[in-house]
Amino acid sequence: MFELKENFSLKNHNTFGLNTKTRYFVVCNSEDELIEFLNIHYKKELPLMILGGGSNVLFTKDYDGVILHPRIKGIEILRETDEEIELRVGAGEDWDEFVAYCVERGWGGIENLSLIPGNVGTCPIQNIGAYGVEVKDVIVAVETLELTTLQKCYFKNIECEFAYRDSIFKRKLKGKQIITYVRFKLKKQPNFKLDYGNLNEKVEEFGEISLRSIRKAVVQIRESKLPKPEELGNAGSFFKNPIIDKQLATKIIEKYPDVPYYQMENDLVKIPAGWLIEKAELKGKRMGDVGVHEKQALVLVNYGNATGDDIIHFARNIQQTIIILFEIELEMEVNVV
Ligand code: EPU
Repeated sequence: MFELKENFSLKNHNTFGLNTKTRYFVVCNSEDELIEFLNIHYKKELPLMILGGGSNVLFTKDYDGVILHPRIKGIEILRETDEEIELRVGAGEDWDEFVAYCVERGWGGIENLSLIPGNVGTCPIQNIGAYGVEVKDVIVAVETLELTTLQKCYFKNIECEFAYRDSIFKRKLKGKQIITYVRFKLKKQPNFKLDYGNLNEKVEEFGEISLRSIRKAVVQIRESKLPKPEELGNAGSFFKNPIIDKQLATKIIEKYPDVPYYQMENDLVKIPAGWLIEKAELKGKRMGDVGVHEKQALVLVNYGNATGDDIIHFARNIQQTIIILFEIELEMEVNVV
């Protein structure tokens, strides 16, 4: 049976640690419970939203509606050969526990995505990525329930329209599908990806190159730069790294020869938002209980009692400054509710 709570605080369900409330909070442990709740109990008068791990969301006020929290568990092997393994994983599994589970068994492909907060069910939405790997590289398909018809749907990788921090679930299908399971294909003889930043160097400190040493290195790098949400509320990268045209990029590179950048397709260039914010002298800046993290300028933190509005207000100030200095519009990565 699903669990329903009324007038429920979301403090433990968003990594910013914001103390907003929702009129109803419904936990469903299976696809059947989701269907039962939506079919019989949800009267459609109130708005409804799906919340996974709450690691990429910013609540600006109390939610006068129903928040559905799918907690579908389970890791099932669908197919296995000497080279590969295909898994079907419940949306409610914790992402990093799943990564650890695969690394322990020698299944490669997601070790670079260690320690990313959130659930398996939300990883496809923003196509999580780190250290040269994006989750789209290992997703075979995403299974969902269509919210209005309650039909089970199946999206093959190509149908998910994955792009940098983006997918169909963030755009056309936003709020229309509940992700129930994600299918992954992992490799038993993994190709290690070590060419991002100082990852290779860090892995070498551990002597051998293996899934375990890569996981260990990524965990250390992340822990050295990114605040732990349990200690300091945050949602990881607050902004996306902007992708700009060649003309503007050339102008910036001429003015700041030290700017790090990545050449993309179609004459586009990606610039790290963290670098722009640091160059604008905003790293470590604080306004009341909101601040730019001291070790990673891409992360905004809640020092205690910041509200969602405080964070948004602060973020808009940063966007303004970056437009004035660099003519670049920073796009928020987090979902503002
Ligand atoms: N940089 C600065 N100052 C800063 C932060 C970064 O100058 O305060 C510069 C660094 O010197 C480096 C470049 O920016 O040359 C890139 O920095 P980093 O490798 O730390 O990565 P990022 O671009 O800041 C992205 C992802 C992270 C992911 C890392 C590692 C986005 C929006 N963010 O950050 O993702 O962990 O790469 O792959 O793409 C997240 O989404 O929550 C997240 C943490």
